Formats: sequence, C-alpha cells, structure tokens
Amino acid sequence: MKVLVIGGGGREHAIVHKLAQSPAVTKLYCAPGNAGIAQLAECVSLNIMDNDAVTAFAHEKQLDWVFVAPDDPLANGLVDALQNAGIKAFGPSAAAARVEASKSFAKYVMDKYDIPTAAWKDFSDAEKAKEYIRCVGAPIVVKADGLALGKGVFVCQSVSEAEAAVDSIMVQRAFGSAGARVIVEECLSGPEASVLCFTDGKTVVPMVAAQDHKRAYDGDRGPNTGGMGAFAPTPKLSHGDILYVKEHILQRAVDALSAEGCPFMGVLYAGIMMTPVGIKVIEFNARFGDPETQVILPLLRSDLMDIMQAIDARKLDACKVEWQPGAAAVVVMASEGYPGSYEKGKEISGLTSADGVTVYHAGTKNVDGRVVTNGGRVLGVTAVGNDLPQAIAAAYRGVEQIHFEGAQYRKDIGQK
Ligand code: AMP
Ligand code: GLY
Repeated sequence: MKVLVIGGGGREHAIVHKLAQSPAVTKLYCAPGNAGIAQLAECVSLNIMDNDAVTAFAHEKQLDWVFVAPDDPLANGLVDALQNAGIKAFGPSAAAARVEASKSFAKYVMDKYDIPTAAWKDFSDAEKAKEYIRCVGAPIVVKADGLALGKGVFVCQSVSEAEAAVDSIMVQRAFGSAGARVIVEECLSGPEASVLCFTDGKTVVPMVAAQDHKRAYDGDRGPNTGGMGAFAPTPKLSHGDILYVKEHILQRAVDALSAEGCPFMGVLYAGIMMTPVGIKVIEFNARFGDPETQVILPLLRSDLMDIMQAIDARKLDACKVEWQPGAAAVVVMASEGYPGSYEKGKEISGLTSADGVTVYHAGTKNVDGRVVTNGGRVLGVTAVGNDLPQAIAAAYRGVEQIHFEGAQYRKDIGQK
C-alpha cells in the first residue's frame, strides 16, 4: 500500500516510523516532512491546506491511504475531500474535528452529554465577556474559541489579567479569526494527563496514558510551548481512573458526536485534569498529540495500518490492539529562544552516534548533506525502557550525544 502522511513534525516522524514497520506498507510519502522523515519517506512539498492539491496528488500517485495528522487540515476538511474523491483517509471529518477546532462546540457537547468539564460561558462580545469576568472574579481561564497553535489559553490570576486576555483575543485578534468568540472558564487545579484513544465512531480503544510538559523551563516555569517532553504510561492514573476516562469521557464523547450527526473516526485525545472533585476534561483534540505520539507509538505492539483498516471498516471491536510493557520518554531539544523567536540553520551533530534512542525529527532539514535546525522544536530524543526511570535515563544519554548551537531542553522530564 502507498501511504501519504500529512505533516512534518516529531509526531509525523513517529507515525511514518511506525507505518514503515508495517508489512502492508510498500511506499511512504510525507508532506512536507523533514530531514528525519526523509530517511523513511519521500518528502513532497504540497500545500496541505489546499484540499484539491492533496487530492490531485493522491490520484496521481494512486495512493491507498492518506494519514492526516495535524489539526488545521482536519478542521479544513481534508479527510472529507479525500473520502469524497474515493481515497481512504485517516482522521475525523471537519464536522467531527470541531470538538477541537471550536471550544464552544466542545463545551456544548460536554454539557449536553454529561461529560465532566469546567463550568463555562462563551461570548462573541468583548464587553459582555469582561462584565462576566468582573462578576465572577479570579482566578479564571480565558480561551480563544478557535485553533490557536495551543497558545490561545490564558490562565489568569486576576480580573485585570483576564480582561487583558479578552482584549488580546477579541480586540487585537492575536489569533486571527480564532478569536471571534471567547470561552470564559472556571479555573481548575490538579495534575494533568493525556488520554488518547482509537475510535471508529462506536468502539473506543484507549492508548497508554501520557503526560506532556508544556512549559519551556524546568519546574514547569516559563511560557507555554508545543510540548518540551512527554512520557507514558503515567503512574498518576490508576487502572480505575483509566476506566473512568474511557467510559465517562471518551465513550460518551464518541457517542455524543454520533448522536450530533458527526461520527468521529480516528484518534480522539482527551486532555484531563485530576481535580480534588474528580477527573475533568480540559480539552479535546481530534488527533494524535505532539509530543505524546513520540512515546505512545513506540509502545504500540500492533500494526498501525491494521488499526487504520479496522477503523475504516468500522470493525475496531474485532481488532486486537496490544501494548508492550515498560515505559517510554521523549526529551525535546529546541532552538535557543523557543517558544519566542529563534535562529534556524544550525548544524546538528551526533545524530548517528546516539544509540539506544530513536531520534524523531521535528524542525530539521537537509542542506548539502548536512542536517540543520529548521524550527523551534528541533528533535525529540525517545527511549523505551523496562520502567520509567530507565526510559528517562536512556533518553538523556541520547540527548548528551547530540549537539547544535543554542540547543535547549528540559532536564526534568518525567520528574513531576
Ligand atoms: P489547552 O490548550 O486547552 O490544553 O490549555 C493549555 C493549558 O492551560 C492546559 O494544559 C492547562 O494547564 C491550562 N488550562 C486550560 N484550561 C484550564 C482550566 N479550566 N483550569 C486550569 N487550567 C487550565
Ligand atoms: N501535546 C498537546 C497537543 O498535541 O495538543
């Protein structure tokens, strides 16, 4: 089978790496890909937000499957366009992907179908939002309704901070049209985890639960990033907690989306918080997480293509999804200055000498036979071990072998 993977970060490298192990996969393409992905797949420069261009490429190359990994093309209806053209595509329809692309839609669904989440209100008028904030007080959370690269969330300790967040989202339009509405939400507290599942719109198969590290610096300080590291499984969730998340969150959400006329097929991701009054949903994503995928897929023993086929046939209930024991950890190496501005084009050395790890590339490219930095998050150095401490130690041994000017990474992945 010939497969195109859409995207070009560490998550997509992990997906390409996993699909390359499938005996059924004979040829891999990736758009746009990166220097690491280029070792396993033919990288093509397609505009992934142009559904016609991707569909034409799929026809031209007679592709059997397109795996749509990032949020934007999912929200833009790439899966719908491909399926309408008779091409198998992995991921939810645009209507189902609203569970991520519109926070107000997600909140509406959670309330209607009794899925535990923070109390909320949405506003399309900045003054009304601020009036409400003054009325309920701080701490309070303000979120842009639409997709904002994970940056549209403000956890505010004061009323004035929350008012400023509303202005930034709705008046200054810091996130463009994603800020046409805001959600004002009750501030929750507690440890967070990412519980992803495969689903065919009926059956829910949870993956090993992961924990992300969103802040830039050690001790969870500094600005939010796309994710500086992750590990799985997380010891924070008991077996009972996982069952609760499966039944009361993931299965309910899947059933809800079917009942709303937009069945969800693909990977549904619940970002949860373990609050003193129980587990609540912070957000849903309509896709694999980054960097969670870099620790989840190395633990997946089953063939990812078999799971994709089972979902496509709506027969996930008959598909055996197996995980290997042990744990995995990923440490993200980023460019100096990330998540702020940073320079590109720094030569990366030590990639081949780092053993005992899998190095998933994020922002890299090939220039004259050299691999250079080409983004904020550059590499995800991943290791699998018999347990979490082993996996973490091995990942850091890998990190020490790899060098580029200004490389920054957290030293405390897996410590929280
Ligand atoms: P999100 O992009 O929705 O995952 O939010 C980013 C981060 O903001 C989350 O990982 C949480 O740490 C924090 N956050 C979001 N919503 C809330 C909330 N209602 N209460 C407290 N923290 C929140
Ligand atoms: N790691 C969080 C996300 O992928 O949204």
